[in-house]
Amino acid sequence: SGEVRVSAPGKVILHGEHSVVYGKRAVALGLDLRTHLTVSAAADSVSLCLPDVDISKTWSLEELRALWKQMGGAQAPDAAPLADAQAALLRSQLPTGAGLGSSAAYAVCLSGALLTSQGRLDPGEGRANLEKVCRWAFRSEQIIHGTPSGIDNSICTYGGAVNFKGGASTPVEVPPLQVLLVNTKVPRSTKALISGVRERRERHPSAIDPILDSLDALAERGIQALHDLASATRDQDRAAAHETIAELIEINQGLLCALGVSHPSLDRLVALAQANGLRAKLTGAGGGGFGIVVEGLAGKEDVAKCCLDLETHGYQVWRTRLGAPGF
Ligand code: MEV
Repeated sequence: SGEVRVSAPGKVILHGEHSVVYGKRAVALGLDLRTHLTVSAAADSVSLCLPDVDISKTWSLEELRALWKQMGGAQAPDAAPLADAQAALLRSQLPTGAGLGSSAAYAVCLSGALLTSQGRLDPGEGRANLEKVCRWAFRSEQIIHGTPSGIDNSICTYGGAVNFKGGASTPVEVPPLQVLLVNTKVPRSTKALISGVRERRERHPSAIDPILDSLDALAERGIQALHDLASATRDQDRAAAHETIAELIEINQGLLCALGVSHPSLDRLVALAQANGLRAKLTGAGGGGFGIVVEGLAGKEDVAKCCLDLETHGYQVWRTRLGAPGF
């Protein structure tokens, strides 16, 4: 078959990181930083090239079959998509290991491209095809992260905004949500942060479980606020929705601190935003990585001042609008 080109967005979790691992609700939005993948036929090997992270690897088909068996692929409910000699080239605008879904966007691109190149996505079956791509991407995430909830591969597949609970995602109407994406430049491990929360919960279940329930409630209220913002026609309704969104963000950050997944670099970021009248929280697994500042109805000058303050303190800042399209 010929060349296949696909892309998937990164993601921002608005509410529900960590609690989603315990079956609580989460809401995430697509990010307009994307990963692009080109897959083309090759002679007799499978090669993977990720120039942005300096990875380039080639396997013979024989080696690949052995690897597949070792990973339990033979027992997969669906047959293996990786069967032919192929070369995959991946380019990404997403920083890795930072909480913006770089691994999920990669997984979505790879499963989507392989399913496409093998003719295993049916024309005219939009949602069913995406579900297939999402399922395969989830298996990839399981290999990378251990016990992912599935929210990352879901938002990177479907894009827009998703309401995610118990492994199922439903689309949420996307309002014009402008945020500052702030890079703390502090590296961290999602796996280690997830274990940290698990251990804290094991030590103090009666204290941690209500926090997880509160995070669930915040996601639910957050979805309502997004809906209110998307459907607001009067300025006062828009303002009220923005205020609610900002307050929910503030509460959420407090609870994530209580779970032990913030970091001094994130706490400083939140305080700097607050000093400019804006609300911020970590996004993704925390422990460094990225934070988001919701702009709400802040004026251009206030936002610019906040950006400058953050940059002066060594953060890298992008202004972006959330809700980018999916795979
Ligand atoms: C990572 O983006 C979000 C976490 O909740 C992990 C997961 O849901 O798989 C920390």
